[in-house]
Formats: sequence, C-alpha cells, structure tokens
Amino acid sequence: MIDEIKALITEVEAFTADTKSDVEDFRIKYLGKKGILNKYFAEFKNVANDQKKEFGQTINALKNTVQDKVNALKDELDSKEEVKGIYGDLSRPGEPIEIGARHPISIVKNQIIDIFSRIGFNVSEGPEIEDDWHNFTALNLPEYHPARDMQDTFFIQTNPDILLRTHTSSVQVRYMENNKPPIRTISPGRVYRNEAISARSHCFFHQVEGLYIDKDVSFADLKQTLQYFTTEMFGKSKIRLRPSYFPFTEPSAEVDVYWGLETEIDYRITKGTGWLEIMGCGMVDPNVLENCGIDPKEYSGFAFGMGIDRIAMLLHQIGDIRLLSENDVRFLEQFKSAL
Ligand code: PHE
Repeated sequence: MIDEIKALITEVEAFTADTKSDVEDFRIKYLGKKGILNKYFAEFKNVANDQKKEFGQTINALKNTVQDKVNALKDELDSKEEVKGIYGDLSRPGEPIEIGARHPISIVKNQIIDIFSRIGFNVSEGPEIEDDWHNFTALNLPEYHPARDMQDTFFIQTNPDILLRTHTSSVQVRYMENNKPPIRTISPGRVYRNEAISARSHCFFHQVEGLYIDKDVSFADLKQTLQYFTTEMFGKSKIRLRPSYFPFTEPSAEVDVYWGLETEIDYRITKGTGWLEIMGCGMVDPNVLENCGIDPKEYSGFAFGMGIDRIAMLLHQIGDIRLLSENDVRFLEQFKSAL
C-alpha cells in the first residue's frame, strides 16, 4: 500500500489544470470527505504496527503534496486572470496598425521649407484674418488702387477693414515691422480669394512667399536664389523671368521653369511650350520698405510668391484642385509612401 501511495504522490506532483473547476475537482478527489486520503486514513488501523510509522509519514506526505499543488495551481490561475484583465488575451495576433499619410499640400510645403532653410531662410507665420494695412495698404496698394482688383477679396461684411488675407505677403509686412534686416524668411500659409470653384481654381489655396532684405541685395541674387530653388525642387535649372507687374515690387517678374517636352504629359501641362509658370517675384518696392520701417536708402531686397496647390498638382499629377480639400480617404491614402 505504501508503494501505491508513493505512486500517487508522483501523480499529484505532475498534475496540471487549466481552470479553477479542474483544481476543485482535483482537491475533492483527494481531500474531500470521501476522498482518497480519508480512505487511507481509515486503513491506518489495519496496518501492521511496524509499518504504521512509515505508512503515517507517507500519507501525510501525500496530503501535503496535494495541498501544495492545489495552492500553487490556484495562484497560477489567479495571476493569469490578472494579466488577462490588464492586457487581454496575450496569445491573440496583434492588431494591424493603420499608417496615416501626409497631405500632398504638407508634403510639398515641407519640401519648399526644407530647400529654403538650407540657404538660411526661416519660417514665419501670421493670421489668416487680416486687416487692410497688412494685406494691401502697406504693400503699396492704397485705397482705390486698381490693382486691388487683381485679387478678389472676402471682406468681413460689418467691417471693411477686416478681410481674409489674399496672399501671405501680409506676413512679410508683419515680419518687417517686427524684425531688423538682414531678413531671410519664407511665409507658408492658406490664402483666400473670391473665385468660382472649378477643377483649376478654388476660393482658398496655399502659398509660400519669400523675402530677403539686406544691404546691396540685387536682382542677380534673386535670380540665383530662384534657380537654386527650381533645381532642388524640380531638378530643372533653366528658368526665365518675364517682366510683369505687382504693386509691391519694382521691377517685377513672372518666373517660368523649362519643363521640357519629352512626354505627352509635358505637352499637356506646358500647353506645348515646354515652359511652366511657377511664381511671381521682384525687388521690394522702396515704398513698402518705408511703410514697414526699413530705410530704403540703406537696404534693398527681393520677394517671391508661389502657389503650393499648383505645384502639388503638378508633381503628383492631381487633375482637380478640389481633391485637395475634400478629404476623401481614397485620395489621401495614395500619399502614404511620400515624405
Ligand atoms: N503676392 C503675390 C501673389 O499673391 C505673389 C508675389 C509675391 C509676387 C512676392 C511678387 C513678389 O500673387
């Protein structure tokens, strides 16, 4: 019988359980009223005297082993439950992580910022709701100046002095008012114009304007800077400057980059000319410097401005400007692999 009990001890030691009710069944089987241990205790009186000691020790050993096993299994199951409560089922496969995408406007804006920051330009920002001074008057566009009509403006109905900025040149005015030359800054941001919405134009879009003011800044510096930019941005260094007019610059020019005529798309986007207009620029008008508290006899500078939306459409072959503000996930998802 002693051997029988010893075999049970080995069995008990090897026992495992997945649930608490298995543990309870196991406990009752050994320690219950009609359990195995009580059966052996009842046998005690029938055991020969010289074996009583060993028999007694063996069943006590079995009892202790069972008790230890039950306690150990209960602890184990309790701690497993605790982990489950905190982390859920750790054996489940992980949830796939949805990776977002940057908006094409942000991608292009960041590229432009990056290119200009490499030649010492910082980034300046200003309010989208502007006053007349910063959007027009300081920029050499006094009241009734015909060039105000170049940019159809959204005014706040009750106060014609307050408007939605039509360009980020307003930020440059603020920057000049608050900083002394040398100034090298670019101003990215959203601008608003009262235009009919179509595939090619919207009532709001995005610009990056640049401003460089120092002693002896010349038109050659402007051209060199623009050439650096087009090379970095488009991989194209051939540009041309066409004379143009902006009230805040004199002389003014429109910048075209030579895109080439290699593919059918090149033909379409350049209307068969190979040239693509990308921005406006010029030497800052002395009146503007004066309006902003900078002495035009001491300092000169250049400014330029370009539309981010148009460049994004060009680089990513987006056929309709409205896609940029509709937030259609199927459209946005296509930029996952971009910067
Ligand atoms: N502000 C002009 C526009 O919005 C662009 C520009 C900026 C032109 C600076 C010349 C110099 O069209």
